Amino acid sequence: MKIATFSTKAYDRAFLSAANAAHGGRHDIVFLESRLSKETAPLGQGATGICAFVNDVLDRRVLETLYAGGTRLIALRCAGFNNVDLVAARDLGIQVGRVPAYSPEAVAEHTAALMLSLSRNIHRAYARVREGNFSLDGLTGFNFHGRTVGIVGTGKIGVCVARIMAGLGCQILGHDPGENRDFLAAGGRYVAMDELFAQADIITLHCPLTPDTRHLIDHAAIERMKPGVMIINTGRGALVETRALIDGLKSGKIGHVGLDVYEEESDLFFENLSGQIIQDDVFARLLTFPNVLITGHQAFLTREALTAIAETTMENVAAFERTGTPAFPVTMEMLA
Ligand code: NAI
Repeated sequence: MKIATFSTKAYDRAFLSAANAAHGGRHDIVFLESRLSKETAPLGQGATGICAFVNDVLDRRVLETLYAGGTRLIALRCAGFNNVDLVAARDLGIQVGRVPAYSPEAVAEHTAALMLSLSRNIHRAYARVREGNFSLDGLTGFNFHGRTVGIVGTGKIGVCVARIMAGLGCQILGHDPGENRDFLAAGGRYVAMDELFAQADIITLHCPLTPDTRHLIDHAAIERMKPGVMIINTGRGALVETRALIDGLKSGKIGHVGLDVYEEESDLFFENLSGQIIQDDVFARLLTFPNVLITGHQAFLTREALTAIAETTMENVAAFERTGTPAFPVTMEMLA
């Protein structure tokens, strides 16, 4: 099958090519660096399959262009599908597949890396030592042992985070509309959101972005937290109201912030903008705080996760060729 891959980075090319070779090299994969949009959709002409990522746009107009060019399968190389107009895909008869779980450990370990780097000021120490500054002033950290970690969303990633933090000797609180036995087995205890906010020294977000969870962390939520709280978001940017975060940092109420996602990240992340002026003043303000550590949506970026993403994508394509449906389809019911 001819597959046009949008938003290609070097690692996508390497891992998808390897997975294709492992499947007998049967597919003709075209690697395009462009993000998929109405302007770039014609590049998919002649490709039965389109492989897309989190910031590619798959609205009705794009899907219609792709369909007219012969596309019948969208193989998302991510779990989320909020960027796809599923109603339009259904109307056109385009199948949509995704990678439901590739490596919850990858995201959980990155979450822990942000927490530990912040608690021990590793990001500041790294810069100092490179400048020949070996002063320890201002680098005093804190032990995780004995601290309380609040996990919002105790699904696949939240449970992995619970296990890691339990290993460090933390008390684990969780909040989730559904209970997960694995979370309880990891030593977690379920509490109401208010209690989690009031008790946790570290709050970490692992729930999906939905209308209910949008701006879950806002001024009112921060008000209810412990002074000096650490807030970590490796979920989705809009779970946090960034201006509230900035106010909390300025007042000293928030002690540390670690982010792998940001509300307006689609204009920034995944590109090298080092020679340009950042126009987003809110993001630029966040970068000025010494107690804020930001990574550019890289929590998923491990060899293991990329291998799993590429292999599942090939499975989706193979199943579509055999049966007309991808192995891990995105269905209308998932919108509910
Ligand atoms: P999952 O579906 O296994 O778990 C999500 C959990 O959140 C579920 O237990 C669900 O009941 C819970 N939840 C839903 N609404 C909630 C609410 N209002 N309050 C508290 N909990 C709520 O998903 P998984 O695999 O653990 O991923 C979690 C999120 O992590 C994804 O939705 C995605 O946004 C993000 N993610 C980030 C990545 C990165 O590279 N930064 C990579 C992969 C996922």
